[in-house]
Amino acid sequence: MKLHLDDTSLASIDTDCLVVGVCEGDSLSPAATAVDKATGGSIGRMIESGDIESGLGKTSLLHGLPGLGARRVLTVGFGKSEKLNLARFDRGCLAAGKALRDFRFTECHVSIHDVVFDGGGPESRLRQAALAIHRSNFLYTTTKSLKDDAPAPLTRASFQGGPEMEEALGQAGAFAAGYEKAMTLGDLPPNICTPAFLAQDARAIAEKYENVSLEVLEEDDMAEKGMDALLAVSRGSELNAKLIVLKYAGAGKDQAPVALIGKGITFDSGGLSLKSGENMMQMKYDMCGAAGVIGAFVACAKLQMKVNVICIVAAVENMPDGNACRPGDVITSMSGKTIEVLNTDAEGRLVLCDAITYCQQFEPDVIIDAATLTGACVVALGHHATGLMSNDDDLAGELIEAGDSIVDRAWRLPIWEEYQSQLDTPFADMKNVGGMSAGVLTAGCFLSRFAEDQRWAHLDVAGSAWKWGSNDGASGRPAGLLAQFLLNRSG
Ligand code: BES
Ligand code: MN
Ligand code: ZN
Repeated sequence: MKLHLDDTSLASIDTDCLVVGVCEGDSLSPAATAVDKATGGSIGRMIESGDIESGLGKTSLLHGLPGLGARRVLTVGFGKSEKLNLARFDRGCLAAGKALRDFRFTECHVSIHDVVFDGGGPESRLRQAALAIHRSNFLYTTTKSLKDDAPAPLTRASFQGGPEMEEALGQAGAFAAGYEKAMTLGDLPPNICTPAFLAQDARAIAEKYENVSLEVLEEDDMAEKGMDALLAVSRGSELNAKLIVLKYAGAGKDQAPVALIGKGITFDSGGLSLKSGENMMQMKYDMCGAAGVIGAFVACAKLQMKVNVICIVAAVENMPDGNACRPGDVITSMSGKTIEVLNTDAEGRLVLCDAITYCQQFEPDVIIDAATLTGACVVALGHHATGLMSNDDDLAGELIEAGDSIVDRAWRLPIWEEYQSQLDTPFADMKNVGGMSAGVLTAGCFLSRFAEDQRWAHLDVAGSAWKWGSNDGASGRPAGLLAQFLLNRSG
């Protein structure tokens, strides 16, 4: 989907669908006013009669309006204007994007970013609107034959504005490409999206963008480096694990890179601690942490941000077979720390711990991992917030702020040292499960032991990266949060 700017007057703009915002119970937005004027007061009358709803996320499609260059008008409700903020604005924009896709428009002109609220100027509203419309317009098609009446994504959207909006629109386009990459990878089935597939996809990214290079470590290479925690997870699978290392050089060599690490379990059966059928059928999504960091990397490379980034994906399949890791096995991680694997379904931390140790050689400024790590995180935070754990208050603050400003939000959870003792075992330096209580935190505590003195943060996206049981699929998160984090550090 291509994004454009156009500052032709709203009444005369030639488009299949003109999108304007309406708020509850007060004066119309400038765009709605312009349409109202040009059509002899029809918007006001339809609000009055209830044909246009202005509650948050409500859309109405109007046709046959006189006096307009546009063939249809889509109104989007933003609710009460005094309650409006960037997060609610985003929800309205997402609803608009879904409506455009479901009504099968292929082209539109959008003027909803003139709906004013506290916090965020016109550029930030335009950026959020363009990003939301692009994101919600996504349609998975790779393995599906589409019927004639299936939703159809937009191929082009223009936004009201002139050259002063260029930068914001460029950012929206790059961030959207990041989300789209993450959603596409996340939604792909596990027989297609294998570790080798992810490595191949990374190859394509490295070829497409400037200043990107790629290294892929095979199982032999990993064995040589002593990454036995990662390899223990891979042992029960027919597929070979890949450690994918994408590097982006956008700043001077003297600038320490940001290390992004993604959990890329392309399918999580649980291993010998086998999941139930009910819990297993969603586990193609267990590489969404990887998808999110790759998405942020794409956004960064597309914008050619002035930062250095090392993006590491631990791409592994977790399966049971005669060679699989047993509950009770003690393995030695690359760091030298020994781990008693009591539950092979707590595999994410095993692949991540070796990736964290491996990434130290790049002397990163900060390490951020993203992972669909625990069901406990979904219990705690549901699908709206990403769980954030960190050993550094500044880094945690930076990430929360980045998430807030792009509406890809994270909420900090404590990894106080009191929780660490839940990982004690008589048989190794630690066990890989921390018992019934605070499962999200003991997973974070486990990882913190490998970050050691490095500035590090962990994003548990088990709830936020995808949603089961609806048509939502992968959300692409935390690609936006991480892309914004990198952008804030750019230049
Ligand atoms: N990939 C799962 C976590 C998960 C569960 C993500 C549900 C999204 C939805 C992870 O590998 C896992 O199985 N974690 C276990 C850990 C436990 C054995 C300590 C869990 O959460 O049950
Ligand atoms: Mn698991
Ligand atoms: Zn998992």
